[in-house]
Amino acid sequence: MTKNRYSEEEIGAVYRVIRERRDIRHFVPGSLPSGLIERLVDAAHQAPSVGLMQPWRFIRITDAALRGRIHAHVEAERHATAAALPSRNDEFMKVKVEGIRDCSELLVAALMNGREPHIFGRHTLPEMDLCSLACAIQNMWLAARAEGLGLGWVSFFDPEVLAKMLNMPDGAKPLGILCLGPVASFDSQPLLEKIGWGKRLPRSEILFENRWPADARPTQPMY
Ligand SMILES: Cc1cc2nc3c(=O)[nH]c(=O)nc-3n(C[C@H](O)[C@H](O)[C@H](O)COP(=O)(O)O)c2cc1C
Repeated sequence: MTKNRYSEEEIGAVYRVIRERRDIRHFVPGSLPSGLIERLVDAAHQAPSVGLMQPWRFIRITDAALRGRIHAHVEAERHATAAALPSRNDEFMKVKVEGIRDCSELLVAALMNGREPHIFGRHTLPEMDLCSLACAIQNMWLAARAEGLGLGWVSFFDPEVLAKMLNMPDGAKPLGILCLGPVASFDSQPLLEKIGWGKRLPRSEILFENRWPADARPTQPMY
């Protein structure tokens, strides 16, 4: 027991939000209370980042026509993904993969331009900028869940097309369309697990000791 430890109740809340966070594609009508979007962006902005680079940028989409164009592009990409699947294409087309039209707030999360000079921690691993952005999105995801709001990370898009749509400068790269808003309920299981698309692996398959086991195989996708 360390003196820096949170109270049992606070620790319970941390593990609870981690367990109960879900990727959300089904939203109900409603808006966010005033100031909440800023609070969630501030939560994202508290994330760790390589070399304190803070490469995350968020674009709030408030123009309905632009939201419509983003949705149309994602829909086209969803069809392209279905066509690229070796099997289960019909099943895939029935899976809801975004709530762009129904969510109350839409944000695009992107990597800033001008990342090349940032070599602190990225000399051999340039993708650490991407990892930093992912940390920021996870912060927002957890904070949103604690606030009772759903967040869905949508990645069915061509980054170049989306970057152009949003007037992004060369080198900036969108990595997530984030759908945010009130939901009817939160499932206890990921949607993809519930519909039999995949399942969470047992700990024994993701935690190794000292070396990669000789008999460990990559998990095969279920399609
Ligand atoms: C980087 C990333 C991209 C994702 N892209 C999509 C997406 O385009 N559409 C979608 O429905 N879910 C997307 N998801 C959500 C995953 O499907 C989801 O996290 C996973 O099935 C586990 O469910 P859970 O988040 O509810 O625990 C994405 C998640 C991550 C981390």
